[in-house]
Amino acid sequence: MNDRITMPAATAPSRAFPLLRARRSTKRLQPDPIDVADASEALWAAAGATGNGHRTSPSAHAIHPVSVTLIAGAVTGLPAGAYGYESADHAVALRMSGDHRERVATLTLDADWLAVCPALLVLSADLSAARRRFAHQSMEHGERFVWIEAGHVAQNVYLWAADRGLGTCLVAGLDDDLAQRTGSDLLPAEHALLGILPLGLVTSP
Ligand SMILES: Cc1cc2nc3c(=O)[nH]c(=O)nc-3n(C[C@H](O)[C@H](O)[C@H](O)COP(=O)(O)O)c2cc1C
Repeated sequence: MNDRITMPAATAPSRAFPLLRARRSTKRLQPDPIDVADASEALWAAAGATGNGHRTSPSAHAIHPVSVTLIAGAVTGLPAGAYGYESADHAVALRMSGDHRERVATLTLDADWLAVCPALLVLSADLSAARRRFAHQSMEHGERFVWIEAGHVAQNVYLWAADRGLGTCLVAGLDDDLAQRTGSDLLPAEHALLGILPLGLVTSP
């Protein structure tokens, strides 16, 4: 018996398909500045509020434990600094001034190239709080939900970047110990680093 079925194409292809097809992980972006409007859109794509407590990404129980920090290095219209994204107001709050790209790049296993990308979106969460929140389920659920949510946030940024013709790449190969020891001041209190999404122009081949 042949139980293999070729799936039929829809009569009209989904409008999402061109973006899904164009999505790519782009490494070694150009150091040229991006505009603050691009950083603003990338933040909204990552974690923008869409009404009634929802955001652009799904979240278990709509709690949204994943936070986004913008590390601005070369963003026209925004001084260099680490900024916390406040979804409800679509605003950023300065957490620490100065250029922190190189320091963030050292928290990865091998992505030194992040140091010259104009901006980085840093995903983080309080994993202990997430575990406690879902303690009535299996112990790991709360933390697992955080990682799954971070993946959705990353994919949103990928699809936005594909639409804008900019590059990004989820960098999740991290030096967890170093990040905990030396990176925590860039993040909200008690947060662990989950991943980094650089933003910038794609280097032509
Ligand atoms: C969970 C996860 C972790 C990743 N970590 C890194 C990383 O640390 N460094 C890196 O250069 N790329 C990283 N990537 C990007 C992958 O290398 C990339 O997705 C893969 O090469 C496939 O390419 P594509 O995304 O263009 O299809 C990661 C991707 C995922 C989903």
